[in-house]
Amino acid sequence: MKVAGLPVPHESARGHVTGEALYTDDLTGRFPQVLHAWPVLAPYAHALVTSLDATPALGEPEVVATLGGSDVPGEGNSGANRHDEPLFPSEVMYHQQPVAWVLGESLEAAQRGAARVLMTYQPLPAILSIEQAIAEQAFHSGPFHLRRGDAGAAVAESALRIEGEIHIGGQEHFYLETQCALAWLDEAGGVSVHSSTQHPSETQDVVARVLGIPRSQVTVECLRMGGAFGGKEVQANPWAAVAALGTWKTRRPVCVRLPRVLDMALTGKRHPFLARFEAGFHEDGRLQGLTVSLYSDAGWSLDLSEPVMWRAMFHLDNAYYLPAVDVEGYVCRTHKTSQTAFRGFGGPQGMLVVEDILDRAARRLSLPPEVVRQRNFYRESQTTHYGQRVKDAWRIQTIWHELQETSCFAERREAAARFNAEHPHCKRGIAITPVKFGISFTATFFNQAGALVLIYRDGSVQVNHGGTEMGQGLHTKIRQIAADSLGLPMERVRIMPTRTDKVPNTSASAASASTDLNGVAVADACAQLKARLAPVAGAMLGCPPEAVRHCGGMVFSEGDQVQQLPFSQVVEAAYRQRLPLFAQGYYRTPGIHFDQKTGQGQPFHYYAYGAAVTEVEVDGFTGVHRIVRVDILQDVGDSLSPVIDRGQVEGGFMQGLGWLTLEELLWDEQGRVATAGASTYKLPSWSELPEVFEVAFLERATEAGVILGSKAVGEPPLMLAISAREAIRDAIGAFGSAGVQVELDSPLTPERIFWAIERQRFVKSLGWIFEHSPWVAERAWRAEPFESVDALHAAMKRQVERATREEQLALLRAHPDLGARAGMSEASSGEQAGAGLDRLAPAEFARLQRLNAEYREKFGFPFLFAVKGSAKHDILKALEQRVGGTQDEEFRVALDQVYRIARFRLESIFECSTSQAATNGITTAKATLSSTG
Ligand code: MTE
Ligand code: HPA
Ligand code: MOS
Repeated sequence: MKVAGLPVPHESARGHVTGEALYTDDLTGRFPQVLHAWPVLAPYAHALVTSLDATPALGEPEVVATLGGSDVPGEGNSGANRHDEPLFPSEVMYHQQPVAWVLGESLEAAQRGAARVLMTYQPLPAILSIEQAIAEQAFHSGPFHLRRGDAGAAVAESALRIEGEIHIGGQEHFYLETQCALAWLDEAGGVSVHSSTQHPSETQDVVARVLGIPRSQVTVECLRMGGAFGGKEVQANPWAAVAALGTWKTRRPVCVRLPRVLDMALTGKRHPFLARFEAGFHEDGRLQGLTVSLYSDAGWSLDLSEPVMWRAMFHLDNAYYLPAVDVEGYVCRTHKTSQTAFRGFGGPQGMLVVEDILDRAARRLSLPPEVVRQRNFYRESQTTHYGQRVKDAWRIQTIWHELQETSCFAERREAAARFNAEHPHCKRGIAITPVKFGISFTATFFNQAGALVLIYRDGSVQVNHGGTEMGQGLHTKIRQIAADSLGLPMERVRIMPTRTDKVPNTSASAASASTDLNGVAVADACAQLKARLAPVAGAMLGCPPEAVRHCGGMVFSEGDQVQQLPFSQVVEAAYRQRLPLFAQGYYRTPGIHFDQKTGQGQPFHYYAYGAAVTEVEVDGFTGVHRIVRVDILQDVGDSLSPVIDRGQVEGGFMQGLGWLTLEELLWDEQGRVATAGASTYKLPSWSELPEVFEVAFLERATEAGVILGSKAVGEPPLMLAISAREAIRDAIGAFGSAGVQVELDSPLTPERIFWAIERQRFVKSLGWIFEHSPWVAERAWRAEPFESVDALHAAMKRQVERATREEQLALLRAHPDLGARAGMSEASSGEQAGAGLDRLAPAEFARLQRLNAEYREKFGFPFLFAVKGSAKHDILKALEQRVGGTQDEEFRVALDQVYRIARFRLESIFECSTSQAATNGITTAKATLSSTG
C-alpha cells in the first residue's frame, strides 16, 4: 500500500481544468475596497528623470492615490542581491521601466490617472547588445573563471582546431498566470501579501525592507502559481513591494497584476548569451582543449545573473570530459529588462556551446556526431573541470546505448540517408544528445529546508513546508511522501498553502531541488511524530515500540497484523497522554561546497542524466521543419510520482524545443521589447508536438542519499531538446556536402534554417573552386549577395588573404602536382588535360616530375600554374624559371596562381550557361548568383 511511486494525478489537476483551482488574482474579490495599481512607464531605454508631477492624476475620477519615492518609509529598492533596483528610479534603465504608480478604484481609473502624470526626461545613450556592452566594458560582474590544465597549449597542439562564436537567444517565461500580488493590512497592523512567488521568504524580506518594518510584521502566502519557470524566483518581489506600499499608504487592500503585454515588456527573461570559443580535437574526435568566453546579456540589474553565469560555466562540459579547459564568464550590463532565472538557469546555454562545438568538429572530421559525442563521455572516477567526481558516470553510457536500441537509431539513420538521396528539396535529420545536470543550488547555503507537520485528534494531517507549487507537482509528491511516512491514505494529508509564518527563512522553490529538500524535511517531521506515537501504540497493541508499523491508516505490530488500530485512535490516546502532535522537520544537503576563488569544489549533490533522440524533416524551400519523432530516456531515480515526472519530462522538452526553434525575442532600436505579446512571440503548441513522443525512465536507478531513491526532474528535460537542434543541423548538412560544418545561431527559426541551407548549397556548388578547400566558399558566403562573377571572385580572394599563413599553405598543398596521374579533383584533371599534361612524352613527364619534386622540396608546396590557355612548353619553362625564386616570392606567386585558377573555374560555370555538363550544384550556384545579384 505504498503511496510514493504510484502514478497519482496532480493534486490540483481537476481544479486546473475546471477552473476551481484559485490563483492570486482570483482572491481579489474577497477583499472589499481593493485598489488596483497601474505604473507610469518611461518611454526610454536610458534617461534621466528631470521632473515628475503626479498631482494631475489625482484630478481623475476614482483615482485614490499615487505612489512615489517620498511614500517609501523604508528602503525604496527591491533588488534582491545587490539592492540595485530602485522602485522609483531617477535614472531610467530600460524601456518602459515604471517610475511611479497610481492607485484607483478600478484598473481603468488607475490607467487614466497614470496617463495624466507629467514627466520629463533627458534621454541618454543606451547599450542594447552584448557586443556593445563588451565594447564599452559594461559588466555587472566578471570575469569569473574555471580552469583545468593549459587549454591554450592543448588547442595549439591539436590536429583539428575550430574557432568561432555562437549567439544564443533568450526566452520569455510565458507562465500562464502573469505576475500578481495582493496586499492588505492584517488584524494587528502588519502586512499580509498573497503573492505568486517562488520565494515567499525573499518576497517577505523585500516587503519588510521597503516598509522599514521587521520581517515578523510581514506574512507572505503563496497558494499556487500558474507557472513560474524561474520567472518568479526573484521577479515576484517588486510587485509585492508596490502592493504592500500602496496598502501601507492607503490602509486599503491593493492588487498589482501585470497584464500579459506589460509582463512581457517589464519582466526579465532567459539570458541571451554570446560564446566565443577555440577548440582543439584529436583526429578521432576526442576533445583535447577548449577555451571559451561566455557573455550573458543580464539587462539593467544584477538579479540572479551571477549564479546563472556560474551554472553556465559548470555545464559547459555537459556529459563530456574536458581534459584541458579555460572558461571565463562576463555578466554584461545592457539597458533591457533584467534577465533572470529560467528553467535550467544558465545550464542550457553552457551545454549548447559544447554541443555546437562537438557537432562542428564531427562534420569537419567526417565522423558521425553521435560517435564524437560518445568518445568524449565521462568515464567512472573522472572529475569535472571544477573538481567534482562524476558519480554514476556509467549511467550516461547505459542510457545512450539503451536509447539507441529502443529508438532504432541506427536503422533510422540509414532510412534518413535513403530518404535524403531521393529528396533534393526536403531532408531528414536525426540526432541523439545527452544531458548531465547538476542538482543543488550552487550557492551552498540555499540547500536547506524546513517543514511543520500537524496531526489533529481525528487523525487528519496538515503539512506545511517551504516549497511552492507552480504546477510542477511538488505538493503531490510531498503529499505522497507524508502519507507514506505516516502510513496514511493520501486523502488524510492536506498540503497547506506556503506561508512564511509556518516555515520561516525558506529557500526559493528552484534548482529542481524542492522535493529533495522539502521532502526530507517533511519525512523528518513525520518520523519524529511516529517515534512519539510508537510507545503509545505499543502499549495499546502489547508490543515493543520498535515493532509498531503504520500502513493504510492503520497501526499494528510487525509480529501480529490481525489486531489493527485506526491511526485516529492512537492519535487520540497520545493526545490524552499529553504528547505534542506536531513536529518541525529540517534538512540540509550534506557534503556540498564550492569556492569561487579557486573554482574548485563539490557544488552538486548528484547529477541527473538523460538522453533524447529527435528526428526532423526540413523543407529546403522555406526552412520550415516538422518534428517526426522524439524518444527520451530520463534518469529520475526511483520515480516518486510517475505521472508527474512524465509531465515534467514532456513539458520540459517542449519548453526547450520552443526556446531552440520557435521563440525569438526581438528588441527594437529604441530598446523596446518588440515581441511583447503572443501575436509576435511564437510559442510551442499542439502543432509542434512530435508525431511520436516516447518517454521512458531509466530502470534500476535508485539514487542513494535522496528522498526515497528519487531524483530531481524539473529542469533537466529542457535540455533534451538540444537533440532537436542537432537533428535540424543534421538535415541542413544533408543539403550540402560532407566535411563542411554547419554554423547556427539560436533559435532555429525558419529564416535561420533557410539561410543555413542556402549556405550549404553555396558551399556545395562552389566549395571546389578552391581545390579541396570548401572553407573559402564557406567564409565568402557571408559577403552575399554577389553582383557579379568579379565580386564573387573578389570575396573569395579576400577570405584567402585574410586566412592564417598556415591555412594559406594548406590551400597551396591541397593542389595536385602538375602532370600527376592520380589523386586529382575532377576539375584539375580536366584543366590539366586541356593543357595537354595528360599526354606528355616520357622524357617530358620525367623532367616535369623531377622539377616538381625539386620545387616542392625547396618551397614546401607544389608548383602551381593556372594552365588554362597555356601550352605544355610554356608550363615547363615557367617551372624551370620559378624553381630559382625565393620563398617569399614564390608563396605570393603561388597564391596568385590559385586565384587565377579559381577565376577560370568560376568563369567556366557562369559564362557557359548552356553547357550540358553543368552539374546540379553548379546550377544552384548560378541560381544563387542571379537571384541575389
Ligand atoms: N513545471 C511547471 N508545470 N511549472 C513551472 O513553473 N518550473 C520549473 C520546473 N517545472 C515549472 C515546472 C523550474 S524552473 C524548476 S526550478 C522546477 O520546476 C522547480 O520545482 P521543483 O524544485 O519542485 O522541481
Ligand atoms: N539554481 C536555480 N536557482 C538558483 C540557483 C541555482 O543554482 N542559485 C540561486 N538561485
Ligand atoms: Mo528554476 S530556473 O531553478 O526556478
